[in-house]
Amino acid sequence: MKLLFVCLGNICRSPMAEAIFRDLIQKENLDMTLDSAGTSVYYGGNQPHLGTRKILDKMNIDYDHIISRQLKDEDFEKFDYLFAMDTQNYQDMLNRSPQKYHPKIRLFLEPLDTYPNKNIPDPWYTDDFEETKILITQAAHAWLDILKGELN
Ligand code: 4NP
Repeated sequence: MKLLFVCLGNICRSPMAEAIFRDLIQKENLDMTLDSAGTSVYYGGNQPHLGTRKILDKMNIDYDHIISRQLKDEDFEKFDYLFAMDTQNYQDMLNRSPQKYHPKIRLFLEPLDTYPNKNIPDPWYTDDFEETKILITQAAHAWLDILKGELN
């Protein structure tokens, strides 16, 4: 199974989601391909934001291989799920992809129905990487439970 985590810059939220999700699947010995991308071109080639790196360091989670890149058209074919960190990323992906791929495009907070809006707050603006980490971790656990049911 191949999962892509998508935000605007691919330096704050989606690399955090990729790294946290990878840590979970490694602990369970699951075979999945994970990557992340940004809908914008701003930060291509950059490592994650310092705030994201500090959070991942505290969690003892590796991010060395994560380098920001832009979302590509081929990603819609290649990945089984493309997880949007907020409703803008979600709408951007729907707008630029053929309809046949739309069922793969999902809001990452979708399984957390306690959360009224479906946006993971962007720490680029809020500076609150901890709040973002908590939501991403909850959503990662919820999706892992769902996706384990789809692995054969
Ligand atoms: P991200 O955060 O989408 O979670 O990586 C952002 C990073 C950069 C910008 C916006 C959001 N920016 O406008 O440069």
